[in-house]
Amino acid sequence: MSNKDKIKTAYHDSISIYDSVLTQGNILSRMYISFFWSGTDDNRVAEELLSYIPDDFAGSMLDVPVGTAVFTEKKWRRLSAAKITCLDYSEDMLGKAKRRLSGCDHISFVQGDVGSLPFEDASFDIVMSMNGFHAFPKKKKAFKETWRVLKKGGQFIACFYIKGRNKRTDWLVSRILSKKGWFTPPFPTEEQLLKVLNRLYSEVDYHVDGSMVSIRCVK
Ligand SMILES: C[S@@+](CC[C@H](N)C(=O)[O-])C[C@H]1O[C@@H](n2cnc3c(N)ncnc32)[C@H](O)[C@@H]1O
Repeated sequence: MSNKDKIKTAYHDSISIYDSVLTQGNILSRMYISFFWSGTDDNRVAEELLSYIPDDFAGSMLDVPVGTAVFTEKKWRRLSAAKITCLDYSEDMLGKAKRRLSGCDHISFVQGDVGSLPFEDASFDIVMSMNGFHAFPKKKKAFKETWRVLKKGGQFIACFYIKGRNKRTDWLVSRILSKKGWFTPPFPTEEQLLKVLNRLYSEVDYHVDGSMVSIRCVK
């Protein structure tokens, strides 16, 4: 099975539990996060990323991958003066996001691949990538494409898994999550990631919580 089919199948099969696992909606998901992810709370990481976007933001933003919009729904609805484009590879995830954000004229949806974005250079003021890079198969292309579509002075805001911080998390990612297709290797270490970001962006601000990195870069 190709990487793309594996990813689509993985997210298709997990769509009914995705939101609850990520948001720690039940005791099992809280135990999973506590045991395998040193307690790193995705809700908290998402809140932090969203706080980087002012409530009166009126520019253009790409959300890639939107997933089911479980973390972003409320904020995206409030940003009615902005123009938001939500892209995802999985029709199932995108379909759920569309239903969640229905009735919002300032939001559009595109099924596509982050490695080949269907947008002109310098189209967006903000590119948001929440929990995306650990799922993307061609990470070099994804870094290049998200940079290409960003305006000069625009912000790249993201969070994702990095390797080498916690043995238990690394084991889970390589032995289970990558085999199923929710994650796709190779994964950068903190040092490798910083090299990539520093080559692309004029300002790089980041911090690490467990095995998750949150970043905010200016082009
Ligand atoms: C872990 S989910 C994150 C979704 C959402 N941002 C969140 O935080 O809940 C990863 C998403 O990446 C999408 N994805 C994987 N490879 C992709 C690609 N090449 N281009 C666009 N989206 C992709 C998957 O379909 C999935 O919806």
